[in-house]
Amino acid sequence: MTEVRPAVTADIVGLLAVEEEFRLAGTPEWFLMDDAWFQRKIDRDELLIADDDGIVGYLMWTSLWRLPWIEFARVLADRRREGIGKALVRGLEDRLRAAGGWMLLSSSTGTDEDAIAWHRAIGFKDGGRIEWKGRNAMSELCNRERGRSEILR
Ligand SMILES: CC(C)(COP(=O)(O)OP(=O)(O)OC[C@H]1O[C@@H](n2cnc3c(N)ncnc32)[C@H](O)[C@@H]1OP(=O)(O)O)[C@@H](O)C(=O)NCCC(=O)NCCS
Repeated sequence: MTEVRPAVTADIVGLLAVEEEFRLAGTPEWFLMDDAWFQRKIDRDELLIADDDGIVGYLMWTSLWRLPWIEFARVLADRRREGIGKALVRGLEDRLRAAGGWMLLSSSTGTDEDAIAWHRAIGFKDGGRIEWKGRNAMSELCNRERGRSEILR
C-alpha cells in the first residue's frame, strides 16, 4: 500500500532514482533536483514522498510570505493514474489544515495540458497567467489556487 510521509535523508537515493527516470524521459537538467537540493528541502520540511516499498512519487513546495506553493509533483510513469499525485496533495493539505493554513498555490507551464488537467481534476482553479522572459525561463505559467472553502472542507 502506498504511504504518504515526509521525506528523510535516507530517501534521497530513491528520490534521485525518480529524477533519473525524468531525465531519461527528456526533462532538462536544470529542471532536475540533486542530492543537496533534496537535503535542503528535507531540512525545511517541504517534501512529501509516496512510498510503496520504494519511492513512487514526491511533492515539493516552498512558502512565499507564508503561502505554500507547490514547486514539483512527480510520479513514476508506470504508477500514474492510481491517485498517487492526488494523495500527495491531500497529504500536504492535511498538514496545512492542521496548522491553520487556508490556501495552497500551484502552477504549471501554460502549455502542459496533462499537468493542467491534473490540477483541475484535484480541485485547483485557474488563478491567472505569468509571462516569463529570458534564458531557461518557461514561456508562460498558469497559476492555480485553492481557497479557504476547498482546503478546509
Ligand atoms: C501530474 C502527475 C503528478 C499526476 O500524478 P498521478 O498520480 O498520475 O495523478 P492522479 O492519479 O492523482 O490523478 C488524479 C486525477 O487527475 C486527472 N489526471 C491525471 N493525469 C492526467 C492526464 N495526464 N491527463 C488528464 N487528466 C489527468 C484525472 O482526472 C485523474 O483521475 P482518474 O485517473 O481517476 O481519471 C504525474 O502525471 C506526473 O508526474 N507528471 C509529470 C510531471 C508533472 O507534470 N507534474 C505536475 C506539474 S509540477
